[in-house]
Amino acid sequence: MAKPTFTVGEEKAAKPIIEVTIDGEKVSAPEGTSIYDVVIHMGKTLPSMCYHYTFSPFGSCGICLVEVEGKKAPVRSCTAPITPNMVVRTQEKSLWEAQKKAIEKHLTTHPLDCPVCDADGRCELQDMSYEFGISQLGPVKQKGIPEDTRSIVLDFNMNRCILCGECINICKEVQMVDALQFLKKDGHTHVVAKGDTALYCEFCGDCLEVCPVGAITNKFSKYVYKPWQLKTTTTTCPYCGDGCILVMDTQENQVVRVRSRLTWKSKWGEHEQTVHGHGGICGRGRFGFQFINSKERLSQPLIRKEGKLVETPWFVALSYVAQRFNEIKTQYGGQAIAGLITARCTNEDMYLFQKFMRIALGTNHIDSSARYGHINFILAMKKALGAGRGMATYADLTLANVILVIGSDITETNPVAALRVKEALRNYGGKVIVVDPAQTNMAKLATHHLAIKPGSERALIQGMIKVLVEQGLVDKEFAKKYPDAVDRIKEAVAGISLESIQSETGLEPAKLQEVTELFAKAGKGIIICGEGILRRARGYEHALLLIDLAMLGGKLEKPGCGITAMCEENNEQGAVEMGVVPEFLPGQLEFSDPVARQKYVSAWGDEIPAQPGDTLLRILERAGKGEIKALYLVGENPLGTLPASVNVREALERVSASGGFIVCQDLFLTETGRLADAVLPACSFAEKEGTFTNFEGKINPVSQALESLGESKADWEILTEISGAMGYPLAYVNAEEIRQEISRLLPGFMDDRSERPQVHLDRYLSNGFAQDLGWRYSLLADGPGRVLPEYPFVLVLGQVLYHSGKLTTRAEGLMKIFDKRLLQISPVDAERLGVAGGEKVRVRSAQGSVEVGVELNPMFPAGMCFFPEHFNEPPVRDLIPCETDPITSAPYHKFGRVAIEKLG
Ligand code: SF4
Ligand code: SF4
Ligand code: SF4
Ligand code: FES
Repeated sequence: MAKPTFTVGEEKAAKPIIEVTIDGEKVSAPEGTSIYDVVIHMGKTLPSMCYHYTFSPFGSCGICLVEVEGKKAPVRSCTAPITPNMVVRTQEKSLWEAQKKAIEKHLTTHPLDCPVCDADGRCELQDMSYEFGISQLGPVKQKGIPEDTRSIVLDFNMNRCILCGECINICKEVQMVDALQFLKKDGHTHVVAKGDTALYCEFCGDCLEVCPVGAITNKFSKYVYKPWQLKTTTTTCPYCGDGCILVMDTQENQVVRVRSRLTWKSKWGEHEQTVHGHGGICGRGRFGFQFINSKERLSQPLIRKEGKLVETPWFVALSYVAQRFNEIKTQYGGQAIAGLITARCTNEDMYLFQKFMRIALGTNHIDSSARYGHINFILAMKKALGAGRGMATYADLTLANVILVIGSDITETNPVAALRVKEALRNYGGKVIVVDPAQTNMAKLATHHLAIKPGSERALIQGMIKVLVEQGLVDKEFAKKYPDAVDRIKEAVAGISLESIQSETGLEPAKLQEVTELFAKAGKGIIICGEGILRRARGYEHALLLIDLAMLGGKLEKPGCGITAMCEENNEQGAVEMGVVPEFLPGQLEFSDPVARQKYVSAWGDEIPAQPGDTLLRILERAGKGEIKALYLVGENPLGTLPASVNVREALERVSASGGFIVCQDLFLTETGRLADAVLPACSFAEKEGTFTNFEGKINPVSQALESLGESKADWEILTEISGAMGYPLAYVNAEEIRQEISRLLPGFMDDRSERPQVHLDRYLSNGFAQDLGWRYSLLADGPGRVLPEYPFVLVLGQVLYHSGKLTTRAEGLMKIFDKRLLQISPVDAERLGVAGGEKVRVRSAQGSVEVGVELNPMFPAGMCFFPEHFNEPPVRDLIPCETDPITSAPYHKFGRVAIEKLG
């Protein structure tokens, strides 16, 4: 007897197991499972067109027919649940005839315009017709519906639609966007955007992928290829830390389109398998590929001659860079050299970068874009738990009983991880608490939305902890094991009153009590945090506060529990693990530990400087003082990222003016690159091999889909060539060799790391734990309770769904979807200020003033405004001062206070 395998979800596992007979074989499965699912589990096939395991069966196509004893007519197996002792037959000749008829019926309304259809060669209706040997076609009833091209990225050809409903269902159930509907008009049923308007949705493209025919098409790839002309490469997305797998179709060294593994072809599976992800991607991954083939890409090295950057052959550029590095090292030593690398590079690039900087240039002044906030999370986790990484997998998120989302607009920053939270809500009865002043997408779906005052997340966590320890909600096991830690925290929170928490956050004490209890009593609880607290003043302390909350609530050590941070850049986790921060050598071994340093001295056969290294802002500060003579920037553009008050331009100009040397290695000539002495063209993720590490800690492969554009080279390759020219040969022939070296030095590190990190609280709680509590449990001096009358608005810079850093602003697909350089304000504030959408306002802060158009956005509360961080014009970012974390040196420049006035 076949064993039931439907046991992932607790709800389903709780259902009684019943027995049925399928084609004479006895099978058991949970009651309520569809006949279709049981048949497929037996390894049999059943034709189907409207079924997909990622959403509920719809039963529209009439193809998945089976015979059920006692029923006169064949039954649609996808919507029919099994009942005890049911007898089912799937292989009767009569069924085959009925299935064939159902397909023929679709063909009577489907135009045979296959030669000009995007789905030609990957159309389920074509495949089905072939399989059933349909050759005699009756006359086709042409619908004559004009194509609906109103959407920015998707076209709808309703002549081809077979009304299976898959697009509508995946949008409604998996995305929980519910943007599509059937609509009867002009005598036909159409799929249209809700309200029959131009579709403006999350543009994930899942509807496009599951459409079994060519009724939904991608505007960017329509009519530009035939499937057999394409080369397909499976690789990992370069945008966010979700680490989605992209299927990239290329032709003549151009990316033609990007698809996901989710298609109508991936329809077979148990719904529960989606706990690991549904295989889809987001709009950034799908429509953001044009930067790869951009005409603005650098194709040749540039060297500054007589004040101008001029194209120079590689061999000249390499020997020039090597010579200048050697000269500066000889004259000033490694302490005058620093390097920054973007966390969008592969692990292999980053490993080699830090090795090059440390042994060839003799410096530990290296940093990466993980410094902008993720480092706060890593350093806090490392300090407390001994493992600097997130603890939750996709499956943990999906199956959690309670998820606390704090400081993270997860749908915008990490849209595919957000789908797991949505699935927890929709399918597993999970409760979701969203802490956000704005009515975000997740806040709207959540069971609990705590719309606190902007910037009061810290007070909210402190309040939850106070309720936990003072009202007997501390996890019993934790309290028994670590009574002293509980007492110390109790003492620390005694100084904060619930009234002050209420005045800081604006939250009723009863609500605080309710969510704290919910969190504390949940069997499996996960905390998701993001830039809303990690990239804010004292972000490191915020991470430690969250660890306290998880610890006291019993949500650290138990399986299925933990804390995780949403990474906005694809490889922020990898950056820290590969050691491109001064604190760590590869494998997060402490740089300050002589034993760890000796491990790498022995492995690399060369000296590593023992002096501790500077972080990003300190490097720039020293550059501004003329102390840095050589700056090597790989994919980093501090001039384009940091606000004017950091004086990056002055710092870079000082490097050159003091006889120093700046090298920029990038895909594009950035603001920083324009000031460099040498610019080296790097190739994109699509032109190289390697790996990225996602927020779960999973190592995902990056595969080469294109030949390098122009004369660009992979970052690791440029590093080997410069080091060779300098006389420190780091001679790797490919990224795989580097990966093998990492694996040799750090066994298991590049393998499957789906195991959650081990939690070691003993060391943390017995080693000066109480010393920091005074700071941690103080309210911030400039918290929201102390609004400055001259600057009454909170200005937040942040990410939007259709962009990731500045890279996506080079992708025309995404710029078509979102190019709004507007200040988003609440309609309440707009009315008070007397401004309408599109009108301009002046935004003022202690740093200066900027004129900018406004957009009214009801998701923001009165007193809060938002500007998308991807756009430097108008320079709204310059209005925010840059603070530095006292412990981690993370720069904070995305949250400030401003005044807004209507223009003239
Ligand atoms: S692109 Fe995504 S969000 Fe938009 S309609 Fe299709 S499935 Fe829904
Ligand atoms: S557009 Fe495609 S997926 Fe949607 S109902 Fe029509 S055939 Fe099905
Ligand atoms: S941007 Fe993030 S969520 Fe979107 S496809 Fe890429 S990795 Fe996935
Ligand atoms: S797959 Fe069952 S009716 Fe379409």
